[in-house]
Amino acid sequence: MQFFIDTADTDAIRELYATGLADGVTTNPSLIKKSGRDFKEVIAEICAIVDGPVSAEVVATEADAMLREGRALAALASNVVVKLPLTLDGLKACRQLTAEGVATNVTLCFSANQALLAAKAGATYVSPFIGRLDDIHIEGMELIREIRLIYDNYGFETQILAASIRNPLHVKDSAMAGADVMTAPPDVIRALAVHPLTDKGLAAFLKDAAAAGISV
Ligand code: E4P
Repeated sequence: MQFFIDTADTDAIRELYATGLADGVTTNPSLIKKSGRDFKEVIAEICAIVDGPVSAEVVATEADAMLREGRALAALASNVVVKLPLTLDGLKACRQLTAEGVATNVTLCFSANQALLAAKAGATYVSPFIGRLDDIHIEGMELIREIRLIYDNYGFETQILAASIRNPLHVKDSAMAGADVMTAPPDVIRALAVHPLTDKGLAAFLKDAAAAGISV
Protein backbone atom coordinates (compact mmCIF):
# COMPACT_ATOMS: atom_id res chain seq x y z
CA MET A 1 0.00 0.00 0.00
CA GLN A 2 1.32 3.43 -0.90
CA PHE A 3 1.17 6.29 1.61
CA PHE A 4 0.51 9.84 0.47
CA ILE A 5 0.78 12.83 2.84
CA ASP A 6 -2.39 14.92 2.80
CA THR A 7 -1.03 18.41 3.37
CA ALA A 8 0.46 21.53 1.75
CA ASP A 9 2.80 22.06 4.72
CA THR A 10 6.24 21.71 3.12
CA ASP A 11 8.06 21.37 6.48
CA ALA A 12 5.89 18.39 7.41
CA ILE A 13 6.36 16.91 3.93
CA ARG A 14 10.17 17.22 4.20
CA GLU A 15 10.16 15.59 7.64
CA LEU A 16 7.93 12.65 6.70
CA TYR A 17 9.40 12.12 3.24
CA ALA A 18 12.84 11.79 4.83
CA THR A 19 11.61 8.70 6.71
CA GLY A 20 11.22 6.90 3.38
CA LEU A 21 7.71 5.84 4.40
CA ALA A 22 5.79 8.30 2.22
CA ASP A 23 5.28 7.83 -1.50
CA GLY A 24 3.53 11.03 -2.56
CA VAL A 25 1.40 14.01 -1.54
CA THR A 26 -2.19 15.12 -1.98
CA THR A 27 -3.45 18.67 -1.64
CA ASN A 28 -6.78 20.39 -2.06
CA PRO A 29 -7.80 24.06 -2.13
CA SER A 30 -8.57 24.04 1.61
CA LEU A 31 -5.09 22.70 2.43
CA ILE A 32 -3.51 25.33 0.13
CA LYS A 33 -5.53 28.05 1.93
CA LYS A 34 -4.31 26.70 5.29
CA SER A 35 -0.69 26.95 4.09
CA GLY A 36 -1.20 30.67 3.36
CA ARG A 37 0.99 30.33 0.28
CA ASP A 38 0.67 30.87 -3.47
CA PHE A 39 -0.89 27.77 -5.06
CA LYS A 40 1.51 27.16 -7.95
CA GLU A 41 4.55 28.12 -5.87
CA VAL A 42 3.74 25.61 -3.13
CA ILE A 43 2.94 22.83 -5.62
CA ALA A 44 6.26 23.40 -7.40
CA GLU A 45 8.10 23.28 -4.06
CA ILE A 46 6.36 20.05 -3.02
CA CYS A 47 7.19 18.49 -6.41
CA ALA A 48 10.86 19.35 -5.86
CA ILE A 49 10.85 17.62 -2.44
CA VAL A 50 8.93 14.52 -3.49
CA ASP A 51 9.75 12.19 -6.39
CA GLY A 52 6.31 10.54 -6.25
CA PRO A 53 2.87 11.76 -7.34
CA VAL A 54 1.67 15.17 -6.08
CA SER A 55 -2.04 15.90 -6.51
CA ALA A 56 -2.99 19.50 -7.34
CA GLU A 57 -6.66 20.35 -7.78
CA VAL A 58 -8.34 22.44 -10.46
CA VAL A 59 -10.83 25.08 -9.34
CA ALA A 60 -12.82 25.44 -12.59
CA THR A 61 -16.14 23.63 -12.86
CA GLU A 62 -16.58 23.50 -16.64
CA ALA A 63 -14.67 20.87 -18.65
CA ASP A 64 -12.82 23.18 -21.06
CA ALA A 65 -11.67 25.43 -18.23
CA MET A 66 -10.66 22.37 -16.18
CA LEU A 67 -8.56 21.23 -19.13
CA ARG A 68 -6.79 24.58 -19.33
CA GLU A 69 -6.09 24.53 -15.58
CA GLY A 70 -5.09 20.86 -15.65
CA ARG A 71 -2.57 21.43 -18.44
CA ALA A 72 -1.12 24.44 -16.57
CA LEU A 73 -0.76 22.38 -13.38
CA ALA A 74 0.78 19.44 -15.26
CA ALA A 75 3.35 21.83 -16.75
CA LEU A 76 4.63 22.72 -13.25
CA ALA A 77 6.42 19.40 -12.78
CA SER A 78 6.46 15.89 -14.23
CA ASN A 79 5.07 14.38 -11.02
CA VAL A 80 1.93 16.55 -10.83
CA VAL A 81 -1.32 14.60 -10.74
CA VAL A 82 -4.29 16.73 -11.81
CA LYS A 83 -7.11 16.46 -9.31
CA LEU A 84 -10.60 16.84 -10.74
CA PRO A 85 -13.99 16.75 -8.99
CA LEU A 86 -16.28 13.81 -9.64
CA THR A 87 -18.78 15.63 -11.84
CA LEU A 88 -19.66 14.99 -15.49
CA ASP A 89 -17.41 17.91 -16.47
CA GLY A 90 -14.63 16.56 -14.27
CA LEU A 91 -14.96 13.12 -15.87
CA LYS A 92 -14.92 14.64 -19.37
CA ALA A 93 -11.73 16.56 -18.52
CA CYS A 94 -10.28 13.40 -16.97
CA ARG A 95 -10.86 11.42 -20.17
CA GLN A 96 -9.09 14.10 -22.25
CA LEU A 97 -6.15 14.60 -19.85
CA THR A 98 -5.68 10.82 -19.70
CA ALA A 99 -5.54 10.75 -23.52
CA GLU A 100 -2.84 13.44 -23.32
CA GLY A 101 -0.79 11.31 -20.92
CA VAL A 102 -1.51 13.44 -17.83
CA ALA A 103 -2.03 11.58 -14.52
CA THR A 104 -5.37 12.30 -12.85
CA ASN A 105 -7.00 11.94 -9.45
CA VAL A 106 -10.80 12.08 -9.48
CA THR A 107 -11.77 13.39 -6.09
CA LEU A 108 -14.87 13.85 -3.92
CA CYS A 109 -16.05 10.30 -4.63
CA PHE A 110 -18.88 9.21 -2.35
CA SER A 111 -20.46 6.26 -4.17
CA ALA A 112 -19.44 3.07 -5.99
CA ASN A 113 -21.21 4.24 -9.15
CA GLN A 114 -19.15 7.43 -9.14
CA ALA A 115 -16.00 5.31 -8.80
CA LEU A 116 -17.15 3.16 -11.73
CA LEU A 117 -17.42 6.32 -13.85
CA ALA A 118 -13.95 7.48 -12.76
CA ALA A 119 -12.49 4.16 -13.91
CA LYS A 120 -14.34 4.37 -17.22
CA ALA A 121 -12.92 7.89 -17.67
CA GLY A 122 -9.44 6.41 -17.32
CA ALA A 123 -8.55 8.08 -14.01
CA THR A 124 -5.16 7.19 -12.56
CA TYR A 125 -6.62 7.47 -9.04
CA VAL A 126 -10.09 7.73 -7.56
CA SER A 127 -10.41 9.30 -4.11
CA PRO A 128 -13.30 7.95 -2.00
CA PHE A 129 -13.72 10.16 1.09
CA ILE A 130 -13.99 7.90 4.14
CA GLY A 131 -14.17 10.45 6.97
CA ARG A 132 -16.76 12.66 5.33
CA LEU A 133 -19.08 9.66 4.88
CA ASP A 134 -18.54 8.66 8.52
CA ASP A 135 -19.40 12.28 9.43
CA ILE A 136 -22.91 11.78 8.05
CA HIS A 137 -23.25 8.32 9.66
CA ILE A 138 -22.59 6.26 6.52
CA GLU A 139 -19.81 3.68 6.88
CA GLY A 140 -17.04 5.07 4.69
CA MET A 141 -15.05 1.86 4.66
CA GLU A 142 -17.88 -0.05 3.00
CA LEU A 143 -17.34 2.19 -0.05
CA ILE A 144 -13.71 1.07 -0.32
CA ARG A 145 -14.84 -2.58 -0.20
CA GLU A 146 -17.46 -1.99 -2.90
CA ILE A 147 -15.05 -0.20 -5.24
CA ARG A 148 -12.39 -2.91 -4.75
CA LEU A 149 -14.92 -5.58 -5.76
CA ILE A 150 -16.15 -3.66 -8.80
CA TYR A 151 -12.67 -2.77 -10.05
CA ASP A 152 -11.49 -6.35 -9.61
CA ASN A 153 -14.59 -7.68 -11.42
CA TYR A 154 -13.62 -5.76 -14.55
CA GLY A 155 -9.87 -5.41 -14.23
CA PHE A 156 -9.98 -1.61 -14.01
CA GLU A 157 -6.51 -0.21 -13.42
CA THR A 158 -7.63 2.99 -11.66
CA GLN A 159 -6.04 2.99 -8.23
CA ILE A 160 -8.22 3.33 -5.15
CA LEU A 161 -6.85 6.21 -3.07
CA ALA A 162 -8.53 6.13 0.33
CA ALA A 163 -8.93 9.80 1.32
CA SER A 164 -10.41 11.80 4.16
CA ILE A 165 -8.53 9.46 6.48
CA ARG A 166 -8.87 10.79 10.00
CA ASN A 167 -7.25 8.18 12.27
CA PRO A 168 -5.02 5.07 12.34
CA LEU A 169 -8.05 2.74 12.31
CA HIS A 170 -9.03 4.18 8.93
CA VAL A 171 -5.54 3.34 7.65
CA LYS A 172 -5.68 -0.27 8.86
CA ASP A 173 -9.21 -0.81 7.57
CA SER A 174 -8.35 0.71 4.16
CA ALA A 175 -5.38 -1.64 3.89
CA MET A 176 -7.56 -4.63 4.82
CA ALA A 177 -10.18 -3.56 2.27
CA GLY A 178 -7.55 -3.47 -0.48
CA ALA A 179 -7.11 0.25 -1.14
CA ASP A 180 -4.05 0.78 -3.33
CA VAL A 181 -3.09 4.05 -1.64
CA MET A 182 -4.15 5.98 1.42
CA THR A 183 -3.63 9.68 2.02
CA ALA A 184 -3.59 11.02 5.55
CA PRO A 185 -2.57 14.17 7.43
CA PRO A 186 0.97 14.14 8.90
CA ASP A 187 -0.29 13.59 12.47
CA VAL A 188 -2.18 10.44 11.48
CA ILE A 189 0.89 9.02 9.69
CA ARG A 190 3.08 9.77 12.72
CA ALA A 191 0.52 8.12 15.02
CA LEU A 192 0.81 4.84 13.10
CA ALA A 193 4.20 4.24 14.72
CA VAL A 194 3.00 4.85 18.27
CA HIS A 195 1.99 2.17 20.76
CA PRO A 196 2.09 2.56 24.57
CA LEU A 197 3.60 -0.91 24.99
CA THR A 198 6.41 0.03 22.59
CA ASP A 199 7.18 3.11 24.71
CA LYS A 200 6.95 1.11 27.95
CA GLY A 201 9.07 -1.74 26.61
CA LEU A 202 11.72 0.60 25.23
CA ALA A 203 11.97 2.49 28.53
CA ALA A 204 12.52 -0.81 30.37
CA PHE A 205 15.14 -2.01 27.87
CA LEU A 206 17.02 1.29 28.07
CA LYS A 207 16.94 1.20 31.87
CA ASP A 208 18.35 -2.34 31.91
CA ALA A 209 20.93 -1.47 29.25
CA ALA A 210 22.15 1.39 31.43
CA ALA A 211 22.21 -0.83 34.53
CA ALA A 212 24.17 -3.52 32.64
CA GLY A 213 26.57 -0.94 31.22
CA ILE A 214 25.74 -2.01 27.68
CA SER A 215 27.23 0.13 24.94
CA VAL A 216 27.35 -0.73 21.24
C1 E4P B 1 -7.48 14.28 -0.16
O1 E4P B 1 -7.33 14.09 -1.34
C2 E4P B 1 -8.69 14.92 0.38
O2 E4P B 1 -8.83 16.18 -0.15
C3 E4P B 1 -8.64 14.93 1.88
O3 E4P B 1 -8.23 13.65 2.31
C4 E4P B 1 -9.94 15.36 2.51
O4 E4P B 1 -9.89 15.13 3.90
P1 E4P B 1 -10.94 15.78 4.91
O5 E4P B 1 -12.28 15.20 4.63
O6 E4P B 1 -10.44 15.40 6.27
O7 E4P B 1 -10.91 17.25 4.66
